[in-house]
Amino acid sequence: MKLSIAVALATLACQASTAQEMSYGEAEYLNSCAVCHGLYGKGDGPLGDVLLKRPADLTRLSERNGGAFPYSRVFATIDGRYSLPSHGDREMPVWGRQFLEEDAKVYGPSGGEIVTTERIHNLAGYIETLQH
Ligand code: HEC
Repeated sequence: MKLSIAVALATLACQASTAQEMSYGEAEYLNSCAVCHGLYGKGDGPLGDVLLKRPADLTRLSERNGGAFPYSRVFATIDGRYSLPSHGDREMPVWGRQFLEEDAKVYGPSGGEIVTTERIHNLAGYIETLQH
């Protein structure tokens, strides 16, 4: 599993390095999410094949929500720390916890929480730009 993630990430990093002037949200997306959700958010990332549940197609969230981007739901899903485990096991990592672990080391517990929240906002904002 570890090896397949490393290989998938290396492949994605090569494909992504041609992109210019990336936003923070896009860079973070390519770094942390594309391996499952695919380079363009279609849910076709290489690691998706080994999961029980297919990663969501992130380009159709507005379409499936009556045309409005479900920003707060997307934010809460990415964060993952406050969602109820009502739909069985979650296959997506709990990013809020993972980011906070890294950010708290650099910025301390409360500064870390601010940076983590900002990272999730950037990701949610980037996903909004993928809607069609
Ligand atoms: C290990 C694979 C994996 C990674 C990495 C991953 N996801 Fe997911 N994601 C999933 C799966 C699988 C689902 C489907 C829902 C579930 O697990 O119950 C999902 C669902 C979602 C949803 C919910 C879509 C909806 O229908 O409301 C969002 C938003 C999302 N992911 C965003 C992200 C973002 C942003 C990242 C990177 C920070 C990320 N994901 C990284 C596997 C992954």
